[in-house]
Amino acid sequence: MSQQSQSWNSRVGLILAMAGNAVGIGNFLRFPVQAVQNGGGAFIIPYLVSFVLLGIPLLLVEWSTGKYGGMHGHHSPPMIMQMMNHRKIWRYTGAFGIFSSVIICSYYCYIESWNLSYAIYSVLGVFNGMGETQISDFFAAYLNVSVDNFIPLVSFLFCMCLNIFILSKGISGGIEKVAKFCMPMLFIFGIFLAIKACSLTAGEDGAIFDGTEGLNFLWTPNFDSLDNPKVWLAAAGQIFFTLSLGMGAIQCYASYLQKEDDIALNSMTSGFVNEFTEVIIGGAILIPISVGYLGVDRVVELMQSGGLGLGFKTMPYLFEQWGGVLSALTGLAFFGLLFFASLTSTLALAQPTIGFFSRSYEWTQKKSSIFFGGILLVMALPCILFFDKGVFDEYDYWGGTISLFFFAMIESIAFSWVMGVDKGWRMINDYAELKIPIVFKYVLKYITPTLFIVIFVSALIKPMNDDWSLLSFSGWELDNSAIIAELMHKGVDPNDPSIFYLDMTRILLLIFFVLICVLIWHATRTREENSNKRFTESHQNTLE
Ligand code: TRP
Repeated sequence: MSQQSQSWNSRVGLILAMAGNAVGIGNFLRFPVQAVQNGGGAFIIPYLVSFVLLGIPLLLVEWSTGKYGGMHGHHSPPMIMQMMNHRKIWRYTGAFGIFSSVIICSYYCYIESWNLSYAIYSVLGVFNGMGETQISDFFAAYLNVSVDNFIPLVSFLFCMCLNIFILSKGISGGIEKVAKFCMPMLFIFGIFLAIKACSLTAGEDGAIFDGTEGLNFLWTPNFDSLDNPKVWLAAAGQIFFTLSLGMGAIQCYASYLQKEDDIALNSMTSGFVNEFTEVIIGGAILIPISVGYLGVDRVVELMQSGGLGLGFKTMPYLFEQWGGVLSALTGLAFFGLLFFASLTSTLALAQPTIGFFSRSYEWTQKKSSIFFGGILLVMALPCILFFDKGVFDEYDYWGGTISLFFFAMIESIAFSWVMGVDKGWRMINDYAELKIPIVFKYVLKYITPTLFIVIFVSALIKPMNDDWSLLSFSGWELDNSAIIAELMHKGVDPNDPSIFYLDMTRILLLIFFVLICVLIWHATRTREENSNKRFTESHQNTLE
């Protein structure tokens, strides 16, 4: 099936697929952790402001440029970026989109496979009778892949093949159908867990606090955070991650819209479905349950090591407190929900690459999907085999945070200043059933790009102890988490053996990035040759 003839079948399918693209592990594990680490109620205001000033504008940018790209036969970030400006350099900025999506997909698909395994373990009652430390050790042992412990690898390969199979069926025949099944299942599981979590009562089943304790922690606003750049950075980062922005994944889905499909209503609906799932459902599961059993302080401490740890090391133990069938059912619902959420996201993460191959080399959907599977396997193996050496975190940092942010910044500047916001605004409002308030045109032009640049530069040179006062200019010491400091391994013992693995990972990532650029160059040449050939052929035909 050629890419050109593909499109979404129905509006419900489109919205569910777009929501499936955005709703992922980020909604259920990353959001609660960000909220807890940034002071609970202190996080919500910067988060909502970031949604309006960064999230909504960039959604509009990706939807509109994607749709227009699709109408001109472009289905991947390099070609869509080039559409905004004909200079060749823009094509290469699209490499960041393909880079981020493949890197994220390689570790995301691995997490998807943990969820599948854990859902099955919950049903089989593997965790029954295990204590808190046993369950926590179980996860560490699970991740230690070896000849004797090959289940994680098998589970990953299964998930990978499942993805390739669905992708090879195309947009409406594969992705849309899967979204129509997975998303309703996800909502059923999510609502069941949220009700169970919020109705937790102190003293029952070993809980020490009511479920509302965690909700109060999250929802009692705290205005102290408003002048803390760290909280703003975290909030903006979460908005990008959760809305799947900054890598062309939304753009690629939007490139299968039809000419009369409107952008405003569809993009806002799917954006709000994601926010509802994150803030209302995602905020009502992990925090109320863990706070109910462990209290706020302990949860803050546990969350220092991230949401994945809490989700896999602690949640199965807490579900066990409900006993018998209910604990199997909640385990299945929780890991099943995460599995569906990640499956619909990995499908989206594949699209920038698949769109690139099938359009540039005129490959079939099946061939492009299988080729993508090969790339995924090569990139995921280091992450699986050297998980404990920090490869996973390195992928997440460079692919899932920095490159994503950088590409989002470029997209917003290209849209408003290189292509021009007037043209952009017309693209957004073509066939609109819902009018976006005109104020967003100015937000798009001035506020969004400025915010991007400010946030990016702040992350680059973040000062020690978050001391942003002008006084610290006299002796600016980089924080260990500033991008430049990360690059130089600041704060890491030079004799630490993990440095070797981190450097190897960076070399691999760099080679991969260069390879994408070479492919873009080669693909453009091939495309030009093909179209020249076609032109000469048709010319000859007319002459004959
Ligand atoms: N939005 C996903 C989540 O919340 C993660 C993600 C980031 C993603 N970028 C993406 C998913 C691109 C699909 C496509 O977990």
